[in-house]
Order: sequence, then C-alpha cells, then structure tokens
Amino acid sequence: MSELVTMTTIRRIAVIAIDNPPVNALSPGVPEGVQNLVNTANADERIDGIVVIGAGTTFVAGADINEFAKVASGQAAPLNLRDIFFEIESSAKPLVMALHGTALGGGLELAMSGHYRVLAPTAKVGQPEVNLGLIPGAGGTQRLPRLAGMAKALEMCALGQPFSAEEALAAGIADRIVSGDLLETAVAFAEEIAGAPISRTRDRAVGAPIAPAAIEELRGKAHKSMRGRHAPDVAIQAVTEAARVPFEEGCRIEAELFQQCLKSAESRGLIHAFFGEREVGKIPGLDKNTPTLAIAKAGVIGAGTMGSGIAMVYASAGIPVRLREVTQEALDRGMNSIRKNYASTVAKGRLSQSDMDTRLALITPQLGYEGFEELDVITEAVFEQMEAKRKIFAEIHQIAKPECILASNTSTLDVDEIASVTLRPEMVVGHHFFSPANIMRLLEVVRGKATSDSVLVTSMALAKRLKKVAVLSGNARGFIGNRILHPYIREAQFLVEEGATVEEVNEAIYDFGMPMGPLAMCDLIGLDVEFRIHQESRLHHKPGVREPLGIDLLYAEGRYGQKNGKGFSNYVNGRQAEADPAVTERIHASAKGLTKRSISREEIVDRCILAMVNEGARVLEAGTAMRAVDIDVVYLTGYGFPLYRGGLMFYADELGLDRVLARIEEFRSAHGDDLWAPAPLLIKLVTEGKTFSSLGPVLRTAKA
Ligand code: COA
Repeated sequence: MSELVTMTTIRRIAVIAIDNPPVNALSPGVPEGVQNLVNTANADERIDGIVVIGAGTTFVAGADINEFAKVASGQAAPLNLRDIFFEIESSAKPLVMALHGTALGGGLELAMSGHYRVLAPTAKVGQPEVNLGLIPGAGGTQRLPRLAGMAKALEMCALGQPFSAEEALAAGIADRIVSGDLLETAVAFAEEIAGAPISRTRDRAVGAPIAPAAIEELRGKAHKSMRGRHAPDVAIQAVTEAARVPFEEGCRIEAELFQQCLKSAESRGLIHAFFGEREVGKIPGLDKNTPTLAIAKAGVIGAGTMGSGIAMVYASAGIPVRLREVTQEALDRGMNSIRKNYASTVAKGRLSQSDMDTRLALITPQLGYEGFEELDVITEAVFEQMEAKRKIFAEIHQIAKPECILASNTSTLDVDEIASVTLRPEMVVGHHFFSPANIMRLLEVVRGKATSDSVLVTSMALAKRLKKVAVLSGNARGFIGNRILHPYIREAQFLVEEGATVEEVNEAIYDFGMPMGPLAMCDLIGLDVEFRIHQESRLHHKPGVREPLGIDLLYAEGRYGQKNGKGFSNYVNGRQAEADPAVTERIHASAKGLTKRSISREEIVDRCILAMVNEGARVLEAGTAMRAVDIDVVYLTGYGFPLYRGGLMFYADELGLDRVLARIEEFRSAHGDDLWAPAPLLIKLVTEGKTFSSLGPVLRTAKA
C-alpha cells in the first residue's frame, strides 16, 4: 500500500484518503494506491461501499505536472491513468467521491470514475488542461459528455474554466452538495446506496448532439481568449468523438491526441510558464527564516493614474489604504477615476455593487499625512522625477513608523538615490507596478543595495495577497522589463526606416502572438511619453551610433498617439487604428542614405524579438535578473508575451541558442557592432551547449 493513499473504515464503509501535499496531485503512487485499495475494499466482505476523499484542503488538483514535463522529455514513462481509472470505475461496490477544494484535470477524471460525487459548497471542478497546452488524457473527454452533456463538456474542456459546486450540480457532474461534514455525509450516502444497482459514467449515453454552429461559436471564443493556441481545437475534437464512437474507442483517440499535445511546443511553453510564475516568488540565497513584516494598513502618495490604480489594488485585496494628493482637484480626479473603474467592472457583471462599496470604503482620500504614522507600507507614485521623489521620501521618513516599508513606484530611477534621503535605506524598495495597475499582474520588486531581506520577503508575500506576480529585479536603469523593451522599440522603428510599412511591422509582431505590434504599443503609451524616454536614454548612448527616427519625427509633428487620434496610425473612435501610408512615407524619407527594400515577416520578428533576447542575456550577465525565468515571467505578465511561448528567454532556448546567435551575427554584419554585438553570455552558452533555462541563479543580483 502506498503511504500517499491510506484506507480506514467507518462502520462498513471503506474511506480511502489521498494525502500528497500540497495539492494531492496524482504523482506516481497515488492513482495506483487508490486502485489497489479499491480492489482491497472490494475483496473485503466486511465492506459495503467506498468513499474516496482528499486529505488537507483539497481533493486532487490534477495529474502531477512535473511528470508531464518528464514524460514529454523522455525522462519518465507515462503512467496509464486511463486504465487505472477504468479499473477503479469497475468497482463492484458503490464508490462515492467526496470533493472539496479543487478537483481539476486528472482530479475530475478520477472523480468521474467514481459512481457518485458529493461536493462541499466551495468545491470547484474543471478540466483546465488547455491552459497547459493539453487535453484531458485519462478519459475526461469521454466521461464528461456522458455526465454533463456535450455542450457543457465542450465548454469545460475547450475553455478550461472551472465550475462551481452549484454549476457542477446543475450540469449533472455532482450528485449532491453537502453543507455539513463532507466525510460523514459521503459515508452516509455510500451506506444509503449500498446494494443498489451501480451506475457507471462510462455506461451512460452521451446526451443530444450539439449543433455545428454552437461548436463554431465555442471555437471562436477559445481562439479569442487563447489566440495562437492549438489545444482548444484538439479538446473540441476529442469531446466530439464521444458522440461518434463507443467509450473505449473514444478513450483510445483521446490518448493519441493527448500524446500529440504533450509533445507540442505549446505545451512545453505553457508548462514552463506555470512553474515559472511560481518559481519567481522564491528568492535563492535568502535565509528561509527571514521574518515577514505584518501588512495591515497601506498608503499611496499621488493619485494620478498609477497612484489611484495602486490604491485600487490594495482595496481590492481588502487592505485599507490612505491615498494622498496635494490638491483637492487632483485628489477628486483620482477618486473619480477609481469610482469609474470599479463601476465599469460592476456594469460588466464582474463585481457586485456591495463589493464595490466595500472597496471604496477602504480608500481614504486625504491632502495631508494624517494616519500615515500607523501604516505598514507606503508607496510613492508621484511623477517620474528624482527631486520630487527625494522630497517625498524625506517627508515620509519623518512620519512613518520604523518598521514601515517605504516603496517607490519608479519605473526608471535609482532606488538607492531615493533611499539616500532617508536614514533607513534598508526599508526602501521599488514596487514597480505596471499600467493599468489594477489590471496588469506584474510587480517588479526592486532591490536597492541596502534593502533588507525582510522587506524583500514581505514584498513578495504582499504581491501574492495583491494578486500580483512579483519578480525581483536589481536596481539598474529600466530594471528588467523596460531595459529589454528599449531595443524592441528601436528595431521596430529601424524596420520602417529601411522599407517596411508601419502595418507590416505591427502585423508581424501581432501574429507572433504579442497583444499588439510595437508601434501600436507606442501609440497606446503615447508618443510624447516615448519621446521623453528616448531623449533621456540617448544621453546614455554612444555618440555616432544610429538612433531611430520615427518617434521623434511624429512627436515633432504633434502626433502623440491614441491620445490625440494620430500617431504611427490614425485613430477613429478612440482605439480603432487606421493605416496612414503617408506616415510610413515620411519615416522612409527621413532615413536618408538608406536604400528601401521589402522586408520579410521573418526578419521583422527576428529583429524585434532577438534584439530583446540579446538584451535579456545582458540583463542576466549584469545580475539585474537572477534567472532567465524571471525575465520570462516579466515578459509574460507585464508585456503580453505569448504565454504559449513560455517567455522571452525560453522562446530563445526553444529556437536553439546556436540559431539565435547565428541570426544575431547576421544582423551584426548588416547593422554593426554597437547595435548587434552578441551578449558574451549568449556566446558562452552556445559554446557550452547550454540553454538560458539551464543556468543557475545569479546570486549577486541579490546585492546588485
Ligand atoms: N502538479 C504538480 N504540482 C502542482 C500541481 C499539479 N497539478 N498543482 C499545483 N502544484 C504545485 C505548485 O507548483 C505549487 O508548488 P510550490 O509551492 O512548490 O511552488 C503548489 O502546488 C501550490 O500551488 P499554487 O498554484 O501556488 O497554489 P494555489 O492555492 O494558488 O492554487 C491550484 C492551487 C490547484 C488552483 C493551482 O495550483 C492550479 O491551478 N494547479 C494546476 C491545476 C491543473 O492544471 N491541473 C490539471 C493538470 S492535469
């Protein structure tokens, strides 16, 4: 018997408990353990029925994703869950699955191979495999339509969203929702049905077929929310087979399709992204016993776009927040934008009016510093100018209690210089939120040279409470994300100077999977903002090196992007871009001495993306990012890099670093050393036959 699965008895019912923390994943030993104990219970004449339950806070959150990665890379043999579940379902004694927490993926497939399911009211069930580029592979696509009908099964498998207990009951996945003791109720249920004929999911008829138009509508929805991904189509294919072929044949087809998905780049990328998001929260080199500071009250200084967004983030997490501005007018503007923002979420049905009221009540707008002496974290979000930031930090240093974290939302400035005006630089840290702060998931936590470990650990934990993904960055210009973005915007402009149209550049990058092209992104951010960034950054450039011309030219013409309806494109009705061929022409004309040529989509993608990869390698060399995965997650959660590509550096690994280097060398020959000299780290990795992902953490980031 496996230790991961144990059996006890309550009266004449066997209780099989799965105990594989943290989420009771179906790691090797778990499914076979359940199978063996079901067989043991069947052979024991003192037993009338069986209950399977999860120990701890959840049923089974799925197959073990680590195993998928091992099987895909050939390091482990696949576990045949399909046959194991078939045998479990064959139990001659009634088998009740008792679900709490989550029953996801293989967890729901296991639950469906029971004869009945009772759910705790807060339980969730789902087939989220598409989120990993997979489909259910243990009979889920064949059992779900037999329980829930075609329409619901298609929806669950293609979109990957979980169902609540209520939805599961309505869909026929759950037999009962129990509000009392889950185990006791499940045992009583097993006693009640002992001896009655057994109804197995696999023997049920698949419900009414679904109209092709409804399938196409679902496909469209999946393509919209998971653009560029293949797994939703495969999931639809597998589920629809259930209506066409008998159960076992359907399972065979499902297994084949599952194997194809498991070998796909999409699945590798999504699994990397899944673990990456969890990995970045762990900071190597820190003492595990570093104390976390308690955060109960927060403050934000500055009620502009960023400040009011950050105040919303705190309020939405249930943390009371004081929002300070210097003029009543600016404060009112900030509060109005917060109200408008919440109200639009209410209008979309994603937030209740009472939750909106609760959140608003947690925000205290104010002109002074009253109450700031009680706060546990204060985030400065005034405009991006060193003098302004130094003034604020000198002020809050006087007011804040000693253990209060003093965070700056700077996106570019030196955190050490900001900290230098306080007498407690160890409490100062960068909390770089991304705009719009209430939506974007990324938080760059910037470590100054004196920032204490406690402040870092608390910042990482706080980010989780704020529903953000925190990535640690060293204190260097542009931190991780914006530094890497710089050559991307540069190359996009160069490409237009050399002969591509604005639309060709935007479309190639959109089709690569980014949410919009780089020039469309500049229009969204504002060409006035981009112009200022460019002016600032050229101070650090080597004289005589080619500078991009597009943004400067359009800014001088008064084209500021979406905000005034004209930038690289024209905008009607706010966001709808319309090509303006004259813009491309003027940028072509401004690049004197360049012979215009037609530029392939492949070159557009490689120039823009590999310029970022090369810069990413330098960011790693400098120790600004500790690990390649930190860069991956910054790009996935802050810049819309396609999730299924696993992140910027993982994309390069997948391309093959030797190919990446060869391409960069080509660009170096064409455009010179200053722009395209390959990063020494990239050359080293190619020489050693290694990848970015295989690198250990650069521990000196810790004190960069
Ligand atoms: N296999 C292996 N490990 C898993 C796992 C799985 N199916 N699901 C979660 N984990 C691990 C996480 O990597 C994390 O490990 P860590 O603490 O070492 O970083 C730990 O379990 C906790 O997960 P986390 O996501 O941080 O906890 P949560 O409470 O926020 O969310 C879940 C829990 C189950 C909702 C979430 O982990 C999830 O969605 N998991 C994937 C479920 C899935 O896709 N199942 C289908 C696979 S067939």
